[in-house]
Amino acid sequence: MTQRILLTGGAGYIGSHTYAALVEAGYEVVILDNFSNSARDVPDRLELLLDRKIKVIEGDVLDRAMLDRVFAKHDFDAVVHFAASKAVGESVKEPLAYMQNNIGGLVTLMQAMQAAGVFRLVFSSSASVYGNNAQLPIAETAERSYGNPYGHTKLVCEQIIEQTLASDPRWAVGVLRYFNPVGAHPSGLIGEDPAGVPDNLMPYIAKVAGGELPCISIFGDDYPTPDGTGVRDYIHVCDLADGHVLSLRSLFHEGKGHVVNLGTGRGYSVLEVISAYAQASGRDIPYLVAPRRPGDAAATYANPALAKEMLGFSARFDLGDMCRSSWEWVSTQAQSADA
Ligand code: NAD
Ligand code: UD1
Repeated sequence: MTQRILLTGGAGYIGSHTYAALVEAGYEVVILDNFSNSARDVPDRLELLLDRKIKVIEGDVLDRAMLDRVFAKHDFDAVVHFAASKAVGESVKEPLAYMQNNIGGLVTLMQAMQAAGVFRLVFSSSASVYGNNAQLPIAETAERSYGNPYGHTKLVCEQIIEQTLASDPRWAVGVLRYFNPVGAHPSGLIGEDPAGVPDNLMPYIAKVAGGELPCISIFGDDYPTPDGTGVRDYIHVCDLADGHVLSLRSLFHEGKGHVVNLGTGRGYSVLEVISAYAQASGRDIPYLVAPRRPGDAAATYANPALAKEMLGFSARFDLGDMCRSSWEWVSTQAQSADA
């Protein structure tokens, strides 16, 4: 029997890639999104990509009455919850809005799920719950902390999930701690499209390669890393999407949840990413060295062993694949804007 999945935030960057992976894996999926941070044409693009009609509900996860109607109408077997606000800088300026959307959204959703008798949930957590001082490679057992309001919301959400699990054994929750998702679907139809000047490294480099921005600032070259620049565990968004398929499968088959890292286990420095992107795009990526960004860790990368053991997950794509797919997406977007 086909299992039915509700995908909150399914029009967003990771959600849209996961939609494609879930449909390809045979699930019936409905997207719920308020389009606060996604383009209106994402469902059309998914239709083109998958050659099928997409079911999208425009709505807010804070709207309990709407959620009750949605659960009453569709007989969902599980929920994958991406809907949240994710910009670290914005969270520092507007902590209350982040608490409301990220924590309030999870609480409202879990209440509606409980009322509807749906107890399987996959939750988007983040490596930000490890703070900045975890021992490398970072294992799930590392102590949790946070360095900004966004990271705090993810930590509180994890605690809410733990306390709910302890209160009712019917829940089975997959908590997935993403490292640094980058890249795009190989079709060039969906990808990351941040509004304005990007905060994160790869979307910024992509705009420099495309000529929209003149040069990238490297935030510090005096870290205790091999070349002095920050090291991160970049993971291809299609690998990440596959991780959600495996997480759901495990919830259905094992009937119990898991808390796992989704990363490659390999760190790349800022200079390595710039060089790989230059090669993938065939463009020069001018850079200059700027002061460290406050709150940045020198290096973070996952211990990916538990995700392999519990879910059978391991990343397939390397940094070259991530850069090529990003460039393919960025250049396709630029061509359609010119047309
Ligand atoms: P995104 O902003 O592209 O996607 C989030 C989607 O949720 C958007 O389409 C937005 O319109 C929607 N949304 C936000 N608030 C909503 C609400 N109240 N009701 C309904 N829809 C709402 O972000 P993303 O990069 O795809 O991230 C997805 C999830 O993964 C988030 O929970 C984020 O915190 C988490 N995460 C992301 C990263 C990353 O680097 N991208 C890293 C770790 C964790
Ligand atoms: C940041 C967030 C993290 C969030 C993640 C989402 C902070 C402190 N952390 O992680 O909570 O989950 O985004 O993907 O904001 N860099 C430059 N120049 C730039 C941009 C970045 O040198 O213009 C460097 C950074 O110093 C870092 C690396 O590139 O060493 C990656 O940065 P970024 O893509 O912003 O990700 P994180 O800092 O890991």
